[in-house]
Amino acid sequence: MKSINLHIEKALSFLPEGALEAYAEQTEAANQALEQGTAPGNDFLGWLHLPSSIAPADLARLKATAETLRENCEVVVVAGIGGSYLGTRAVVEALSHSFSWLMPRQKNNPVLIYAGNNISEDYLSELTEYLQGKDFGVINVSKSGTTTETALAFRLLKKQCEDQRGKEMARKVIVAITDARRGAARTTADKEGYASFVIPDNVGGRFSVLTPVGLLPIAVAGFDIEALVQGAVAMEQATAVGTPFRENPCAVYAAVRNALYQNGKKIEILANYHPKLHYIGEWWKQLYGESEGKQHKGIFPAAVDLTTDLHSMGQWIQDGERTIFETVLSIEEPNRSLSVPSDEENLDGLNFLAGKRVDEVNKMAELGTQLAHVDGGVPNLKVTLPQLNEYYLGQLLYFFERACGISGLLLGVNPFDQPGVEAYKKNMFALLDKPGYEAESAALRARLQ
Ligand code: PA5
Repeated sequence: MKSINLHIEKALSFLPEGALEAYAEQTEAANQALEQGTAPGNDFLGWLHLPSSIAPADLARLKATAETLRENCEVVVVAGIGGSYLGTRAVVEALSHSFSWLMPRQKNNPVLIYAGNNISEDYLSELTEYLQGKDFGVINVSKSGTTTETALAFRLLKKQCEDQRGKEMARKVIVAITDARRGAARTTADKEGYASFVIPDNVGGRFSVLTPVGLLPIAVAGFDIEALVQGAVAMEQATAVGTPFRENPCAVYAAVRNALYQNGKKIEILANYHPKLHYIGEWWKQLYGESEGKQHKGIFPAAVDLTTDLHSMGQWIQDGERTIFETVLSIEEPNRSLSVPSDEENLDGLNFLAGKRVDEVNKMAELGTQLAHVDGGVPNLKVTLPQLNEYYLGQLLYFFERACGISGLLLGVNPFDQPGVEAYKKNMFALLDKPGYEAESAALRARLQ
């Protein structure tokens, strides 16, 4: 079986001699700290051996529940925010037909849509309107069970589902993925008798895509969760403690990005050349942003969809402040084949491309851009996927997760907490006069006068 690969040659010339190898011992120490649970945030290391610990019975139960939703729903709404939905959306969109939501649905193949990731009245109202008269189900994903965005959307969805489908059917098509014991989502699931799955205590949201958080909705969308997990297992093994530095892509990626950061490269851009990978970028941004952006440190993770964004962000990348580096996700072989047709009149002058695969044009754009960016002072890393399928996506997800753990430890932060996320919540609750926030409310209102 092939593997995803990391290519760093076009970043090394931006680093002083020996800068990379200087990280060899530190990355191994960080990998060991993860393994032995001696790293900061060691309560949240459940993701490390998660792939290899998923039992066939776990997958069977997920698939059976997915089947119930597939058989009884034309639409399934995944309610969740941040780590509770980005991994799902990343995998589902990467594997789906680009126009799937516009295509006639086949029986037992519901479309997935997303809610609980914003508080827009228009969005929620339009969602309600879209779901009117539809046989829909809900997967309510919230580890804490108290996240406002998700809880608010779920309140609306539960009522609409019960009103439209009746209490009994609603019970069948609403599934909760939440904490084993705590939180409103758990209380509701137990009281209503929903099927439910547990998000392990020791797996944080942004590392949870290979728990039921991602696996259930991905199975509902009709994708092969076994292959996804197998890919992750392969990467778990390939990056284990004791793997020589240069053979461990997680160690090398963590080392290169930290070395670049220490050499003034403060922004990393994850670039893709396939619109389907847009949400991989969103998932990756959360993984690295929330893990590393603390104590006034951390590479700023940004993402671009190319070649689209070459016509918007290309100027900045090529020629703006030289504080960026780029990591390209490259798919070696597309799943489909399409050639450029010849045209007798050749008014557009494109006959020089006639007969070539569209992917060859895309690849030359990718190569040309890489060289231009390197010439422009942007170090370039590349992660190649032999093909876009569940197995290689499983490898990719785990690759980024373990590299993130190592990278955060090299940076000297706890990669597994997110204390900064609480600040906006506190202000929002105070401004909404939530009981218990009276003092904060008075202080904030005084500032607003
Ligand atoms: O990574 C994280 O921990 C966060 O992004 C959470 O997943 C997000 O805030 C949603 O939290 P919850 O699942 O508790 O609703």
